[in-house]
Amino acid sequence: MSDPSVYDESAVEAYDLVSSMLSPGAAHAAWVASHRPLAGRTVLDLGCGTGVSSLALADAGARVVAVDASRPSLDVLKEKCLDHDVEAVEGDFRDLRLDSAFDVVTLSRNTFFLAQEQEEKIDLLRVVARHLAPGGAAFLDCTDPAEFQRAGGDAHSVTYPLGREHMVTVTQTSDRAAQQILSIFLVQGASTLTAFHEQATWATLAEIRLMARIAGLEVTRVDGSYAGEPYGARSREMLIVLEQQR
Ligand SMILES: C[S@@+](CC[C@H](N)C(=O)[O-])C[C@H]1O[C@@H](n2cnc3c(N)ncnc32)[C@H](O)[C@@H]1O
Repeated sequence: MSDPSVYDESAVEAYDLVSSMLSPGAAHAAWVASHRPLAGRTVLDLGCGTGVSSLALADAGARVVAVDASRPSLDVLKEKCLDHDVEAVEGDFRDLRLDSAFDVVTLSRNTFFLAQEQEEKIDLLRVVARHLAPGGAAFLDCTDPAEFQRAGGDAHSVTYPLGREHMVTVTQTSDRAAQQILSIFLVQGASTLTAFHEQATWATLAEIRLMARIAGLEVTRVDGSYAGEPYGARSREMLIVLEQQR
């Protein structure tokens, strides 16, 4: 089960700082726009968090409905999106039923991998299919699984500066057999220390093609970078475009 509660009130400020640094935001929106126009179009952003991608998609002219299960994350998003066309909706992306269909559905920055079990991923893809307007496209923005496998079974940590006042140490360990990666984030300020974690279960392209078919979708394009380079052995990203099955 994915656990949206990890982004609770105590962690959400630190999570927002980290996602402002790690989430591609504008690069994600530019990649989506290279495949589908965004100006004046409707976008459903599933697992929006504190809205790094939702705001970038709205900056590109889209009308965005942003869904997340974490209320504290949505509260931060609401404060940030006062002058943006973004509606924040609390919900579980594995069984969401909105009355509208959208030109574009996005799952940015490994959000797809937060649906842990294969059944959960298929349920999530069914939600995507249910909310796609005719001719619409969905965008899964994933780190290439080979990057996770490189992390190996031994924990390794990297520390980055986070703005002028914080540092974040990211410790990762991966379990190749379970296709899982655990990331622990330790955000340090002058007098604050906040920890939160994220557990993701990756899927390969072959698995995603199969799960998409089960959910009534098909993979119509895979890019290896936000600039649209072809997906291949050296790609660090696995950026997948899905459309309704014909
Ligand atoms: C990796 S974060 C990505 C956030 C955002 N898309 C970004 O690019 O910064 C994944 C988000 O998915 C949300 N999430 C996890 N499980 C969920 C579920 N079952 N339903 C809705 N949201 C969920 C988490 O609360 C978190 O905000």
